[in-house]
Amino acid sequence: MKLFIKTFGCQMNMYDSARIRVSLNALGYQDTDKPEQADIILLNTCHIREKASEKLFSEIGRLVKIKKKSALIIVAGCVVQADGEELLKRAHTVDIAVGPQNYHRLPELITRYNRQKGRIVLADFPAESKFDFLEPNLAQGASCFLAIQEGCDHFCSYCVVPYTRGCEYSRSAGEIMEEARRLVQTGAKEIMLLGQNVNGWHGDGAKDLGDLIRMMAEIEGLKRIRYTTSYPSEMTENIITAHRDVPKLMPYIHLPIQSGSNRILKAMNRQYTCEEYLRLIERFREVRPDIAISSDFIVGFPGETDQDFQETLDIVRQVQYASSFSFKFSARPGTPASIMKNQIPESVKTERLIQLQDLLLNQQKEFNLNTVGKTLDILLIEEGKEKGQITGYTPYLQNVHISGKKSQIGEIVSVKITNATATSLSGEPV
Ligand code: SAH
Ligand code: SF4
Ligand code: F3S
Repeated sequence: MKLFIKTFGCQMNMYDSARIRVSLNALGYQDTDKPEQADIILLNTCHIREKASEKLFSEIGRLVKIKKKSALIIVAGCVVQADGEELLKRAHTVDIAVGPQNYHRLPELITRYNRQKGRIVLADFPAESKFDFLEPNLAQGASCFLAIQEGCDHFCSYCVVPYTRGCEYSRSAGEIMEEARRLVQTGAKEIMLLGQNVNGWHGDGAKDLGDLIRMMAEIEGLKRIRYTTSYPSEMTENIITAHRDVPKLMPYIHLPIQSGSNRILKAMNRQYTCEEYLRLIERFREVRPDIAISSDFIVGFPGETDQDFQETLDIVRQVQYASSFSFKFSARPGTPASIMKNQIPESVKTERLIQLQDLLLNQQKEFNLNTVGKTLDILLIEEGKEKGQITGYTPYLQNVHISGKKSQIGEIVSVKITNATATSLSGEPV
């Protein structure tokens, strides 16, 4: 029996897919990258922007044409949580739809489906935690995700995540450490701690994320620790100083600002000002001057004027980002921002996005060019696109290509950077 999984959306979804894979492998389903051979086709979906959601339906259409007649189609993820019933109505070929807090029940749902052949939707928020029932996680490569916190209580006025992932939940330090040790035993060299508000983590057994990182750094064999995504007003001094005190914690912080206008931040219900954000960046740079800073931006939020947008460009010039993600505002059903007055025309959004991305890409290129001539430690992750090429990451999360062998995956090598573009580096091992 074979299993094909396709994942859309964020790193949390990639983590979830990994956990689902381990659970279904335990039932006897083996991985395949050929959907036409699969007995289960599972699509893990994202609801964050309209485009992300719509992708699902074209993908289902494509897969239905090539799938084995007997293959089950399972849809998981945030689209199901947002509106699972509607999904089954719109996509007649979906057999099972399961929301993010119910993945531990997938084996049972598959058995039930095979017995009754009735379509199933399961998208409630159960009393129990899925983490208590899922198969223990196993490393699926040298760099692994580990969800420590899930859900969100911030309710930014544009965002569906509080509805699709539910309220904030932190796993205990003991549970997290056990999973981290198992990941390292099974091959992980790097762990990326995940949460929708990862820096707001507050589980039993450690004071805050700063302490959790310090505990995790004691695990022998673990080489690198990262965390994402942080919410500016929940950043603690103990997390910031971990960047000074813990060599395994990489010099990289993803700290989304969204907009450089205080007026827009307020309308977005983001609980910080630009001035507070800038002070945080300054503090990170005091403890770790070389730290790479990354952010998310939304352009064309309802009511965003040219002046507001100029303020976003200004703050980008002030911060100097190493990398970033930027999006046009997408009106999501059920969110307050979707029904705000003064929605911005698509053409204006596009114009602003192009301008912002141009600036951000230039900064990214500059950051990358600054590493040319330096020797950096690269964690080798996977084979490159070209033959004899291996791809890895610098401490600053820059993508690097070197020539090497597959057997080197998982090693950290010293590489002299010889070339840089906006999106990747290349170099020679020294
Ligand atoms: N918890 C994280 C973000 C998760 S969503 C945080 O608060 O930073 C990832 C990014 O998608 C957000 O940072 C935001 O920039 C973008 N995003 C979320 N909702 C959006 C929407 N309705 N339209 C456009 N971009 C959106
Ligand atoms: Fe969405 Fe805001 Fe929560 Fe991030 S903090 S997940 S943007 S509601
Ligand atoms: Fe998308 Fe859900 Fe992640 S909406 S961004 S997959 S939390």
